[in-house]
Parts: sequence; structure tokens; C-alpha cells
Amino acid sequence: MPSTPNEPAQQRARRSCHAVPGSNPRFLEKAQGLESDQVFLDIEDSVAPLAKADARKNIVEVLNTGDWGHRVRTVRVNDWTTQWTYKDVIEVVEGAGANLDCIMLPKVQTPEQVVALDVLLTQIETTMGYEVGRIGIEAQIENALGLINVDAIATASPRVETIIFGPADFMASINMKSLVVGEQPPGYDVGDAYHYILMRILMAARAHDKQAIDGPYLQIKDLEGFKRVAGRSAALGFDGKWTLHPDQIAAANEVYSPLQSDYDHAENILDAYEFYTSEKGGAKGAVMLGDEMIDEASRKMALVISAKGRAAGM
Ligand code: GLV
Ligand code: MG
Repeated sequence: MPSTPNEPAQQRARRSCHAVPGSNPRFLEKAQGLESDQVFLDIEDSVAPLAKADARKNIVEVLNTGDWGHRVRTVRVNDWTTQWTYKDVIEVVEGAGANLDCIMLPKVQTPEQVVALDVLLTQIETTMGYEVGRIGIEAQIENALGLINVDAIATASPRVETIIFGPADFMASINMKSLVVGEQPPGYDVGDAYHYILMRILMAARAHDKQAIDGPYLQIKDLEGFKRVAGRSAALGFDGKWTLHPDQIAAANEVYSPLQSDYDHAENILDAYEFYTSEKGGAKGAVMLGDEMIDEASRKMALVISAKGRAAGM
């Protein structure tokens, strides 16, 4: 049986989700001083098979003894088709469950894979005396089957907090003719090759009240490229993006926050709308703010910008 809901966790700030290989003690230490909204400590693809056992131990140690401040603390385990998943989950959650916010499950293809993780987490939480249902799940969509099942995956457990696009594995899984992750495949010159995938993930996230997170940009020296690719998913409505290099963190925090001018404008719309719809302002519906007509839909759009701005400390 899936666990009980953990609602407050779903709106954590995740503009920058910084990836740290669990096999690298120096990076695990350094990540604690970075300004990312989230860290995810990896036991999956950035860790060699022979280093996975040590990575689990390193991660338990740094979660329990490190200073992670306000950051969301996530661990990415290996996917269910490998031999490692159960040990990843049991060792990390038994060892550091009290100092951990989420488990990221990569290459999710079916809702049953989410349910399996939920059940295992519930057993560990119960055995260890942790609050049942507190640890969230972040589901990575990295292949065609996962995308087709994305709605069922999003709703498979109340623990699911985010739906994450994994572009590198996704490109490989659909045979996309490119090796440059996040950039347009050569020969496709009629639009954005990622548009459908991003929109499908975003629709599932919004329909089911989850966060939508964009995956990595691997050309870590190309900050302009990072901003360009991040800017696209941010414009659609994504909540954040992975970062692989410290320089990408400030860029992500900026790209996924509203512009100051948009934030100020949103606050003005909210103030004006509140006034004019009240008795004092004449209890009107649609009203003018300068040259702009605003109504209930404008208020909803302004609320989104305002909430993002407040979460970003504006
Ligand atoms: C991330 O895991 C990716 O495959 O892009
Ligand atoms: Mg991947």
C-alpha cells in the first residue's frame, strides 16, 4: 500500500538541483558550501559499479555529519532493473533517513516501480521509527515508456514530489541523432526537438501538483549554452534544473526566478485586483491597471510569478 501524503514538501524550492557523485568525498564536502536549492548525492550513473558500495557509505556519513543548511537533501539510487537498488535504499535510509528529504528514482518506466520504492520506504520508516511518508520520491523520466506512463507515475504514490526530465538517457532511448545533451540534434531545423517531451512532463506535473525539473547540461564550460537551454524550460514553466558545475548554480537560480520587473508587476496586479474587487473599490470584475485590463485570470497568472518570487527571496 502506498504511504500517507506528505503535502508540505511538494513546494520546496528547487531552482538549482546540484548533482554530486557519492564516490567523491571532496565534492561531497564542497557541495555543502554551494548556493543550490537542492543537492542530490548520486549512486547511479556518475558512480562506477565497483565504487557503489563505498558511495553508499560516504553518503550516509555526509548526510549525518554535514551542514546542508536549507537545501533539499536527495539521494539518487540505481534503477530497479539493476542489482543495486534495494541495497542503495536500505543502506541509505536506514543509515541516514532522519537527515534525508527524498529518494530520486532514475529511469522510471511504470507506476509499479514507484509503488515498489514507496513500499520499501514505508517498511524502513516503520522499522526505524521514522515518520511514515516523510521521505519523498523524485521520478526521472528517461525513456519512451516512462513518458507514455508519466501521469500514472506522477500519481503512483503521494510521496512523488517531482517529475524530472533525463535528457541524456532519453536521447539514447529514442535513438536521437545527437551526442550533445540538451542541444538540438543536427538536421532538425523546424523547431525544438525537446518541446513535446518537456511539455508532456510539465502537463503531468501541473495536472497532479508536482514540480517539473529539467535535467543536466553536460557542456559545463559553456555557461551561455546552459542559460539558453535552461531558459527554454523556465519559459514553459519548469521549476528548476540540474546543475553539474558550481558556475551553473547561480545561473539556474536566476533563470528559474522571475525577473524583478515581472515580480513587481505581479504584486501590483494583485494589489489592484484586491482593491477593485472589494466593496471599497467598487466590487468590479475586470478592471484597468494603467493601460492593461486585468481580471481573475490575470490574478492567477500574477499569483504564480509572485509565489516564485517570494520563494526566491524577492
Ligand atoms: C540524467 O540522468 C540524464 O540521463 O540526462
Ligand atoms: Mg540518466
